[in-house]
Amino acid sequence: MNPHFAYKDNILMAEGVSLADIAAQVGTPAYVYSKAAFTAPLDAFADAFKDVPHLVCFAVKTSANLSLLRLVAEKGQGADIVSGGELYKSLKAGIAADKVVFSGVGKTGREMREALEAGIMMFNVESAEELALLSRVAGEMKKIAPVAMRLNPAVDPHTHPYVATGLKESKFGLDRETALGLYAQAARDPNVSVVGLSCHIGSQLTSIAPFLEAAAKLKGVAQELAGMGIQLKYFDMGGGLGVNYNDETPPALAEYAAGLKGLLRDVPGLTLVLEPGRYVSGPSGLLLTQVLYNKINGEKRFVVIDGAMNDLIRPGLYGSYHRVLPVCRTGAPEVTVDVVGPICESTDFLAKGRALPQVAGGDLLAVMDAGAYGFSMSSNYNARPRAAEALVDGDSFTVVKARETYADLVRGEDPSA
Ligand code: LLP
Repeated sequence: MNPHFAYKDNILMAEGVSLADIAAQVGTPAYVYSKAAFTAPLDAFADAFKDVPHLVCFAVKTSANLSLLRLVAEKGQGADIVSGGELYKSLKAGIAADKVVFSGVGKTGREMREALEAGIMMFNVESAEELALLSRVAGEMKKIAPVAMRLNPAVDPHTHPYVATGLKESKFGLDRETALGLYAQAARDPNVSVVGLSCHIGSQLTSIAPFLEAAAKLKGVAQELAGMGIQLKYFDMGGGLGVNYNDETPPALAEYAAGLKGLLRDVPGLTLVLEPGRYVSGPSGLLLTQVLYNKINGEKRFVVIDGAMNDLIRPGLYGSYHRVLPVCRTGAPEVTVDVVGPICESTDFLAKGRALPQVAGGDLLAVMDAGAYGFSMSSNYNARPRAAEALVDGDSFTVVKARETYADLVRGEDPSA
């Protein structure tokens, strides 16, 4: 059990605050984050790599609320971004531009300009055409773009196919030969400066071996580049460290760190860049929802809640498992149910075939470990306003994102147009 979300007198608490109190004041569905649960893994990363030059760049895509990003900024840590919007939010939250890494296969010219204007640390380049555009944009701006090539190390991360990114056939990264060719080209280009090498092989990895396999391939490329007279500054391993949603046994951070540090011991002068996302934010947040109805269809029992796939799409999209806990522990007998939302889709479920203590309309449920890829993947499907977000710190909480209103749903639309 996550120490930051534990029962006290049979009420589920976020740190020192009752989730029932938050529901009463903020309404449901709502995302609730624990500040301590979010910052502890950031500190753990800093600690695990403290004996080597390193930079932690939090993967903003997991949870981009400004108040969470501000906690990253306060630690002096950086950001891994994949869009101009994520750059905007990171800078607004106070993250230093020179600690921002820009990943992604489809950076636009406008996004490149914004990132060059801000003075980011590096662009992780994913194609020859991207490098050509970046060079042109930098040239027009009379700037020098710091680049890393993103290698596709062709390793199997043994994770869900939708979140595997380092497979040979995936759209991400560059094969070794192409990457080496682009390095040679970049080294001659006055508009770019070669600063690093990067990869990201997938997400929710539960073993260390694929990371080390990828790191060994990157190291080989770094050594080959050194032979070509290209000395790198940054060795970016991406994110991917898994968390425990149900019965997974992800590697300990210490084991991950020891493996990477061991492998890079004989390559001096490199700063290790890490882009953890889920490991930091996943367990730091939950989706608080209210039961609307019990529904029985023959043998099948459903608990219909006010949270839905537009709030948390992971179960519907990836078949992901999230623990579901009653906010009030009543000792009621367990029944096996599907926990479903109001959306008109069969993929609108948050749990399937789950043994839950019997609940009634009005009861509250917490969908656990939803801090990563939860709110950030939410939508307005079925014209549902997006949920509120609350951040708990000790015995108090703050609404860090107001619940959307119906007016928000029609912003920019005009029925007479
Ligand atoms: N760096 C890059 C370049 C990435 O593409 C990602 C995630 C990360 C870092 C962070 O990875 P993490 O530490 O969180 O595993 N929506 C899916 C996961 C998609 C991952 C996308 N890339 C899910 O809900 O499981």
